[in-house]
Amino acid sequence: MSTCKVVLKISLSVSFFFLFCFLSCPSYAIETDATLKRVFLLINNSLTTETPELWVHCQSSKGHDIGNRTIPVKDELSTIFLADPPGEPVYTCQFRWDPKKLDFNVYDKYIDTHCITAEGGVEEEKIPTISCYWHVVSDGFYMGTKDRIGEKFHDW
Ligand SMILES: *[C@@H]1O[C@H](CO)[C@@H](O)[C@H](O)[C@H]1NC(C)=O
Ligand SMILES: *[C@@H]1O[C@H](CO)[C@@H](O)[C@H](O)[C@H]1NC(C)=O
Repeated sequence: MSTCKVVLKISLSVSFFFLFCFLSCPSYAIETDATLKRVFLLINNSLTTETPELWVHCQSSKGHDIGNRTIPVKDELSTIFLADPPGEPVYTCQFRWDPKKLDFNVYDKYIDTHCITAEGGVEEEKIPTISCYWHVVSDGFYMGTKDRIGEKFHDW
């Protein structure tokens, strides 16, 4: 057998193996996909006055709009989505607290590294779950946990 035939034979069996695996092992593919994450994105109004109202309009780079609305004091806006790879899709919010306004990414590749490991994943799925918890305060925007304002990321 010529070298060429041997190479062809090997490459055919390799591609049959991958084709077989692709068709028959979708759960294997998900379990070993280390980049897939479930993301809880939360925006808490930690201001101390109801007036002026805090308006928030957020959407993802995939066109998922999570509303253009006010968030009452101590209340939160939340959404959940799958990120793959980490940082995608990007979520951007426009914040308005008259007369102040600011737009920035509340979830992207950089922000992903500042989120915290969260409970709430479905055990069998083995998808890691993170929580990206924002607090809107009178002097700016912080990332922390539900009970802790945390680290400042932006001024108003
Ligand atoms: C959000 O809603 C307010 C009030 O209904 C409206 O004035 C504003 O134009 C809306 N903004 C966007 C970006 O849709
Ligand atoms: C929002 O954050 C405050 C702390 O600033 C906390 O007391 C409150 O419970 C949070 N709201 C929700 C809905 O978790």
